[in-house]
Amino acid sequence: MSDAASAKETAAEPLQAGSDSFEVPRHVAIIMDGNGRWAAARGLPRVEGHRRGVEALRRTVRAAGDLGISYLTIFSFSSENWSRPASEIRDLLGLLRRFVRNDLADLHKSNVRVRIIGERADLDRDIRLLLDEAEELTRNNDGLTLIVAFNYGARQEIARAARRLAIEVAAGRLAADAITPDLLARHLDAPDLPDPDVIVRTSGEQRLSNFLLWQAAYSELVFVPINWPDFDRAALEAAIAEYRRRERRFGGLVAQTGS
Ligand code: IPE
Ligand code: IPE
Ligand code: MG
Repeated sequence: MSDAASAKETAAEPLQAGSDSFEVPRHVAIIMDGNGRWAAARGLPRVEGHRRGVEALRRTVRAAGDLGISYLTIFSFSSENWSRPASEIRDLLGLLRRFVRNDLADLHKSNVRVRIIGERADLDRDIRLLLDEAEELTRNNDGLTLIVAFNYGARQEIARAARRLAIEVAAGRLAADAITPDLLARHLDAPDLPDPDVIVRTSGEQRLSNFLLWQAAYSELVFVPINWPDFDRAALEAAIAEYRRRERRFGGLVAQTGS
């Protein structure tokens, strides 16, 4: 199947909750940004913004499941976030540990399947084990798939894919000519997932910050002016409504809308 055809397939799923003929995108990805600014605006330490961000994440996962979204990818820590002060990194890693320890059982009960993308090899062993455990425990769940982008950078992910292909070529198992966009995509961190239909970024920033650069080729981008700790079901529904107003074309002439 061509890239464009497979992208079209991801466009819309029948739905759902509340309003008639409301359709949700199959795959929503979110850049959860603005925790620090949320805290600063209230005279609170940045870590308080991150704590409240975890609550927003819980709300959003629940809402995504209720709305019938199949895949929710969240950007929780970027490859570049290591450049932050050590104390903030400690806070963020602590929150991740606590999130997995406190919420994994609930996620499992809610039939959520957890997947992780990003570089795991250079993480502390205890975090690596927690992430492995989350994937392993929820492996057979068939509700919402929650993809956590942790220690994730898209350029690094594409470089990893290129490296895997280069090893095959060097070993004589693959011809360089055989490397196509489809083949490269199959060597990314989660090759079985559809590309995101929509990428939402909170905080008002309008950039991708090294998130899903390959997969975003035909994603709709929705920028939301609120900070992540204030994100809730209504904000998610508003972002989806904005997505549905877009006309998706995938380079062709026939309009593909979200409805
Ligand atoms: C998002 O909020 C959380 C992470 C990037 C880990 P920020 O910490 O980036 O908050 P701002 O952008 O400084 O407000
Ligand atoms: C992107 O936000 C990373 C996450 C949300 C985890 P950043 O706050 O790191 O992005 P920049 O630095 O503003 O581009
Ligand atoms: Mg930020």
